[in-house]
Amino acid sequence: MQHTANYDVLILGSGAAGLTLALRLPAHLHIALVSKGPLPEGSTLYAQGGVSAVLDKADSIQSHIEDTLNAGAGLCDPRSVRYVVEQGPACIRWLIDQGVKFTRAHESNDSSAYHLTREGGHSHRRVVHADDATGREIETTLEKLVRARANITLLENHLAVDLITADKLGLPGPRCYGAYLLDRRTQHVRTVAARHVALATGGANKVYLYTSNPDSSTGDGIAMAWRTGCRVGNMEFMQFHPTCLYHPAAKSFLISEAVRGEGGKLLLPDGTPFMHKFDTRGELAPRDVVARAIDHEMKRLGSDHVLLDISHKPREFIQEHFPTIYTRCLEYGHNMAERPIPVVPAAHYTCGGILTDLRGRTDLPGLYAIGETAFTGLHGANRMASNSLLECIVFGMAAARDIVENDTAAKLPQDLPKWDESRVTDSDEEVVVSHNWSELRHFMWDYVGIVRTDKRLRRANSRVELLLHEIEEYYGNFRISSDLIELRNLAQVARLIIRSAMRRRESRGLHYTLDYPASDNQHAPRSTVLVPPNFAAHHQTVSWES
Ligand code: FAD
Ligand code: SIN
Repeated sequence: MQHTANYDVLILGSGAAGLTLALRLPAHLHIALVSKGPLPEGSTLYAQGGVSAVLDKADSIQSHIEDTLNAGAGLCDPRSVRYVVEQGPACIRWLIDQGVKFTRAHESNDSSAYHLTREGGHSHRRVVHADDATGREIETTLEKLVRARANITLLENHLAVDLITADKLGLPGPRCYGAYLLDRRTQHVRTVAARHVALATGGANKVYLYTSNPDSSTGDGIAMAWRTGCRVGNMEFMQFHPTCLYHPAAKSFLISEAVRGEGGKLLLPDGTPFMHKFDTRGELAPRDVVARAIDHEMKRLGSDHVLLDISHKPREFIQEHFPTIYTRCLEYGHNMAERPIPVVPAAHYTCGGILTDLRGRTDLPGLYAIGETAFTGLHGANRMASNSLLECIVFGMAAARDIVENDTAAKLPQDLPKWDESRVTDSDEEVVVSHNWSELRHFMWDYVGIVRTDKRLRRANSRVELLLHEIEEYYGNFRISSDLIELRNLAQVARLIIRSAMRRRESRGLHYTLDYPASDNQHAPRSTVLVPPNFAAHHQTVSWES
């Protein structure tokens, strides 16, 4: 049996971005909040370091703006940067008002002051945090609030397959009208109609073999938006976090940049420091610089890891500041209070995404994109640490405002078509899906990773085209499953990453290629904007770049 349901607002994704949007909308609106697994599962839950905002008197909005622009290597949109940074303090206040408990500053005379840590690229201490489990504190606090709201229907374990648009319905005027959701427990596809739809589906870092991200980061929102004709930008800028625990069972467990912020040193396996050779800011240089330096040293020495050492700090300090990391490392046999721990880089953050304006609006009327799935112009060629959770809150709030201001304009059509399964059968070859998942993530790691070349990108390009052909054939013939949908999305996003990387004939920020090792200083830096073949059909053109 198939179900149809109507809502005012459909929010796909329940991380920091989706939860903020849901909580900022007024109680008279009926909202469906969808997560493809249990509600809290997503990158937000695992965020460690914190949220950046100007909270210290010695710090300034201008300084936060400049640090963000510097990290972004000439590609940030200054309007977006100012917009987000200026709202930082108010966002932290909002989170505190919702009940989020950030770590207090013991050493301050002011009992209301919060402890601020430092991370790469920040010239001040400006990262507010809840020990080393900031994301868990934010996610679980906001989760309790949405569960208590009578106007919010939670659809957990529902995976959005595709958006429903006026085009598909043969209706006039470009508009998004809802989405098809696969109920993962029953395997039925539900049709959900809504006057406003928001993609808050997180990043696409599972496209790489090694990633700090949970399994949900499969770029579903980016792929869905692209298929409906929305533009995407800066997909070549995939961020690799420099320090994940090197251990076969640790699934790239993140060692927060705050460990380096509090004095942690990077060492070669023989104990020699090396970051000073690459950047005067040493361990606190922006992430692209640190990850590349580690990659360089590992390749030079043929080593499978480097070391991170904070054992010179007192054990009590380490246990107090990094309780989660300390305990997890101990579980894997590493006592970070006594010895350096082995670390490696892993894919961490998708800087590019669906083009939006400062209200979170995409090219398609009725469709918003917020959080990591969006390309707002904030991060440029490299996101500065802890600017992401801030962006989620700022744009969750902005989209809520826009929906409220424009709510009268949107009307729903009478009937939406059901998902059509009349021409497909059950799969007889699941191995195609599992094999292609693994092949995709391997070649993206080997050919489209921290260091790229034209030749490697061409190789990756021909492989992804082959895979996409195979996946589309499979998709057309067999009943959908979560794995198949995610694989299809990841492969489409991989193609966008590769195409964007092939277009950029220079090295800048996170995109480093041996064929063009320098930045192009002859021309003004430009974002890479990809336009889908069906773009011309729609368009409210989003305004941040105009
Ligand atoms: P997510 O929190 O990833 O949530 C995505 C949601 O979308 C989930 O609910 C998921 O179920 C849902 N979803 C996805 N696809 C579908 C679909 N097809 N159908 C239905 N639902 C779907 N940033 C910082 O600023 N500070 C930090 O300290 C920090 N530390 C980090 C540490 C780790 C280990 C990681 C992985 C990231 C960290 N980041 C940090 C980055 C930051 O956590 C993320 O960018 C941010 O949490 C993204 O939030 P989001 O709401 O956009 O998406
Ligand atoms: C970390 O704690 O190092 C992650 C911070 C971030 O990704 O912003």
